[in-house]
Amino acid sequence: MAHNIKRIGVLTSGGDAPGMNAAVRAVVRTALGQGIQVVGIHRGWQGLITGDFEMLDSHDVSHILSEGGTILYTARCDEFMQESGQQKAVATCQLLGLDAVIAIGGDGTFRGALDLSRHGIPVIGVPATIDNDLGCSNYTIGFDTACNTALQCIDKLRDTMQSHERCSVVEVMGRHAGFLALYVGIAVGATAVLVPEREYDFERDVAEPIRRSRLSGNTHFMVVVAEGVGSAFTIGDEIKNNLGIDPRVTVLGHIQRGGTPSVRDREIATRMGYAAVMALVDGDTNTVIGTQGGFLVRTPIEEALQMKKGLQMDRYEVLEAVQHSDPVRDN
Ligand code: F6P
Repeated sequence: MAHNIKRIGVLTSGGDAPGMNAAVRAVVRTALGQGIQVVGIHRGWQGLITGDFEMLDSHDVSHILSEGGTILYTARCDEFMQESGQQKAVATCQLLGLDAVIAIGGDGTFRGALDLSRHGIPVIGVPATIDNDLGCSNYTIGFDTACNTALQCIDKLRDTMQSHERCSVVEVMGRHAGFLALYVGIAVGATAVLVPEREYDFERDVAEPIRRSRLSGNTHFMVVVAEGVGSAFTIGDEIKNNLGIDPRVTVLGHIQRGGTPSVRDREIATRMGYAAVMALVDGDTNTVIGTQGGFLVRTPIEEALQMKKGLQMDRYEVLEAVQHSDPVRDN
């Protein structure tokens, strides 16, 4: 082998995302194929601080492709934000003889990876978050599965809203981004979709779409709210107070993070896990794997953290274009 890498660590950190296991599996199998040993670090950065790990072989990652969550566990670790925590993590890397660490997660995970790299430990980032909010990658592992989970829930809600002729207000995750809300809103044919990227105006964004829908004959309505806009209960109250209808509010919550990963998530996670190891083999460290224009790309981690991804507002226009717009039926 031309490279000098003998042993690497792999960890998952931050909010879990369906497909993380597929990425871990790809890292382990690709690395072993390159003659590199793999140490699975438990509970993200926390495990690197406390030295919580297991050696991983090919069989350890069998049958995990279809499993949601992460076999390595995950955590949000405040201690790793401190210099003292980072020093402990570096000591663990030295003790275990890790030549590099592959970190699978979102922006918080990548900030941790950058800190570790500044202490001389080479890192590679693999983007995984249901929020799809990383500027360095068009796509993040877990987004598709989370969208499909939310879609199935909302389709079920629609059944009962239709029977009772009610309005449903559904809050989806996404942190500060509206990707989940917008994609799911389009897919369920929502009456209205509220995203943090667009300043909220009750009259324009909720009242008018519901009014148009009612005037065109509908008696049930679906309002999808990204959590970054605010509480769905507040929106529900506004609807009740201003439109005189009594909506039912549902917060989908953490159910969106679970479940067996979709084809898209398993496939992209496998390719990204492979690409992460091959970056190390090529001697390309302190980078993040991402997708741009359908291809896998490597971006220096510092640059990756500066990159911003705006919500594709053209999708919002599409959503509005296919909503009910005929104020009165003429027959
Ligand atoms: O980043 C993923 C995510 O699920 C967000 O959509 C959500 O705001 C957050 O994590 C919830 O975090 P926690 O699991 O710590 O409650």
